[in-house]
Amino acid sequence: MLRTHTCGELRLEDLDKKVILSGWVQRVRNKGGLAWVDLRDRYGVTQLIFEEGAVAPELLKTATTLGREYVVQAEGVVIERASKNDKIPTGSIEIRVSELKILNKAKVPPFIIEDETDGGEELRMKYRYLDLRRNVVREKLQLRHRMMQETRKYMDGQDFMEVETPVLIKSTPEGARDFVVPSRVHGGEFYALPQSPQTFKQLLMVSGFDRYFQIVKCFRDEDLRADRQPEFTQIDCEMSFVDQEDILEIFEGLVRHLFTKVKGMELGEIERMTYEDAMRLYGNDKPDIRFGMPFVELNDLAQGKGFSIFDSAELILGINAEGAANYTRKQLDALTNWVKRPQIGAKGLVYVKCNEDGSFKSSVDKFYSQEDLKAWAEKAGAKKGDLILVLSGSEKDTRKQMSELRLKMGDELGLRDKSVYRPLWVLDFPLLEWDEETARYHAMHHPFTSPKKEDMELLDKDPGKVRANAYDLVINGVEIGGGSIRIHDKETQQMMFRHLGFTEEEAQSQFGFLMEAFEFGAPPHGGIAFGFDRLCAIFGGTDSIRDYIAFPKNNAGRDVMINSPSSISDEQLVELSLDIKLKE
Ligand code: AMO
Repeated sequence: MLRTHTCGELRLEDLDKKVILSGWVQRVRNKGGLAWVDLRDRYGVTQLIFEEGAVAPELLKTATTLGREYVVQAEGVVIERASKNDKIPTGSIEIRVSELKILNKAKVPPFIIEDETDGGEELRMKYRYLDLRRNVVREKLQLRHRMMQETRKYMDGQDFMEVETPVLIKSTPEGARDFVVPSRVHGGEFYALPQSPQTFKQLLMVSGFDRYFQIVKCFRDEDLRADRQPEFTQIDCEMSFVDQEDILEIFEGLVRHLFTKVKGMELGEIERMTYEDAMRLYGNDKPDIRFGMPFVELNDLAQGKGFSIFDSAELILGINAEGAANYTRKQLDALTNWVKRPQIGAKGLVYVKCNEDGSFKSSVDKFYSQEDLKAWAEKAGAKKGDLILVLSGSEKDTRKQMSELRLKMGDELGLRDKSVYRPLWVLDFPLLEWDEETARYHAMHHPFTSPKKEDMELLDKDPGKVRANAYDLVINGVEIGGGSIRIHDKETQQMMFRHLGFTEEEAQSQFGFLMEAFEFGAPPHGGIAFGFDRLCAIFGGTDSIRDYIAFPKNNAGRDVMINSPSSISDEQLVELSLDIKLKE
């Protein structure tokens, strides 16, 4: 037996026990004649003590020469510590070692393996297996593990069947580019990795599986962000004989279950908002509702007073930053510069301070009287001590810019507390979205989403106005999941492909299998998929999903540890019929 206990479990109750521990050397302290070694494993740290007189001289010498991260086995007796450490659970005891065996030496690690490390991101990624030894990193993966187990428990409890769907498939158009895999046997042909198991889960409904789920890897060749990885994990779900309300209820249940079991938190009511309201009030389809600060439209009050920027604007939007009238000139200038950065793109920022004495001070005093500004304040719900911030321009840009400014003010005023959770269902998404680049409509969610019955007649007249039976779950401004009630008959699906600009042949060659399946008794069905990495990051209170993935890609989509992607040999290229270059 290489150990009798872990490094995290011994307490005062275990005094005098003879034990064997194995683990990694975190730290050695040598006081001459007295040495301590902190021994670490996944479960914690236990202090080993070597005292002159109490141990053989060679043993003391070995202890003092141990290097960081050596793997050792120590045998000894549990004793009470003279000076206790109440910061760690094993802090009241130590092990008086009688035998010490070096199981494996270690090179000096490239960074300090402690919660506070000196290693930069790139270095830690290159040696990710060492980074994963750090408690703070490992704890995040433990959280992920917990979430995964609890998800399976809940889904199983609701009669969902976990079914694995293939990874080598054919492209499904879901917005991003596919990763493709060349076929050796069928030279010149390619598999694609799934962006999601969408069509397969729908086919499982045709098979009568009724309730399906899968915790599944998905692959999308898109630009990376803090909350995007080229391979990520979904909790993918589908149900038959349900309407939207049934789905919202079942998955509110999942979210509540996870909050209760993993965070020990009872969620209040999960709010709902239409896409239209989300855009109108927050300029964003994933509003952070931990704080208010809704948009107010000021066109009727601010136009026609001689301020040409506002007069020529399609939209004038204000937000009320409560209690921010004390912003200094410097702070206001900084905000103005912030909105003018190319990433935000506003032309400028107008402010109105609602002074404590009831007067107003604005950056456009030249054009607006105190009465005018009072009317703005009333419309914005601003009180004495508040600050109104105003942006103007085209409808689309102004909403987007104001959305960013609102989030920034939320941050500055401390309104985005990471320990507060406000989930929100965003409902009634548009079915189609106009794409300037290709000059045609695209499915906003995916082509299998059903239009709302009452909007069907608009499909030919005003396609952009048609709403879908589609919903997103948003938590604290992050899109955590999305889904829809699907089309389940061939005619509607064909019509949808037509509207999306597919020719009959294209639709047939890409999705003939699905439309044919719809002819063999497809039940009404719908579902949702949650971004599992994002859900973990939200639970853990961080912005980057990378921390919750054991071996993630870096910002450039590279795995710097195994050095991937990488080139392949000429032999492989020939075998895969990819030797175009070699032939040249
Ligand atoms: P959607 O494309 O909205 O829907 O994806 C579902 C959820 O997956 C997460 N997500 C990502 N997470 C990390 N990195 C990425 N690159 C990434 N892309 C998406 C998001 C998102 O809400 N088949 C449909 C679902 C359905 O209709 O049932 C789908 O995949 O949290």
